[in-house]
Amino acid sequence: MADYRLPGEWSKDGMVFGRTVAKEAIDRLESFEMSEGEVLLATYPKTGTTWLQELIWLVCNSSKMDLARSVPLDRRFPYLELQLEGSQSGIEMLQMMSHPFLMKTHLRSETFRMEIEKGKVKVIIGIRNPKDTLVSFYHFYRMTYNLGNFSGSWDDFFELYKTKHMLYGDYFQWYSSWLQYIDKPNVMLVKYEDMHHRLSDVIKGVSTFLGKNLPENVMDDISLQLSFDSMRHNNMVNKTLTGNFNMQISSFMRKGKIGDWKNYFSQEQSGAVEKSYKDTIEPFGIGLEFE
Ligand code: A3P
Repeated sequence: MADYRLPGEWSKDGMVFGRTVAKEAIDRLESFEMSEGEVLLATYPKTGTTWLQELIWLVCNSSKMDLARSVPLDRRFPYLELQLEGSQSGIEMLQMMSHPFLMKTHLRSETFRMEIEKGKVKVIIGIRNPKDTLVSFYHFYRMTYNLGNFSGSWDDFFELYKTKHMLYGDYFQWYSSWLQYIDKPNVMLVKYEDMHHRLSDVIKGVSTFLGKNLPENVMDDISLQLSFDSMRHNNMVNKTLTGNFNMQISSFMRKGKIGDWKNYFSQEQSGAVEKSYKDTIEPFGIGLEFE
């Protein structure tokens, strides 16, 4: 299974892509200009992107919260490099929208280097501990038609991780590329585990970062909409409308927990990830919770 290939696989700079991302879409993004007041959410897959996306959208659109119950999140907050056959790409979607844009990407920072350095766009980087991220990714590989519905075991999937043969590339390489920017004033880091333990503080922190001054009762409403139960039952965010997933295999809003990795990782696997974490993430002065 270590030789597993995605349907329509191609690669760029160590990042592997399938048929959901076109090379031309990435090339176009390299010269895509962002404006003052826009937000770029950068996350490695399965780190709570959808949760943080909905949080940012609600903070920026607190007067139109009903739209969050009637318009799919992917239409409110486009996924830049996504190019599904027969549907609009992320960039095409933006062309139909008005500024300021909220944009999501799973690409490494190199594509956006110029825009990050110009400092106009606000960048929010989402991170989750690598062990839970990998377990969530394993189930995502299994449930996703465009990833070929991976049928291997957890150990088989871990081999893909070890050989760095992963959609969007290696977790640690990915974060090395983005975390170099965390001290810039237009960049904020949000941890999945903080959203679990301190959701109100994260909502406040993101509001302040984006220059939104929200009353307490609005923040409470946002908090309620972001609960796992609420999001699991909300078809605008739980991906049931996309048709890209076999939800009999796993649901997109699967467990939403910290520490599920303990049900999968062997001691050896845990030690290997721990070492990469110590070598790569800790030097940035970042600590992540694993349970
Ligand atoms: P699990 O597979 O561990 O359950 P992404 O949006 O980057 O694909 O991340 C998906 C992960 O975020 C899934 O993790 C999902 O359950 C979790 N998630 C989404 N919304 C959540 C919420 N409101 N609370 C907790 N976890 C959430």
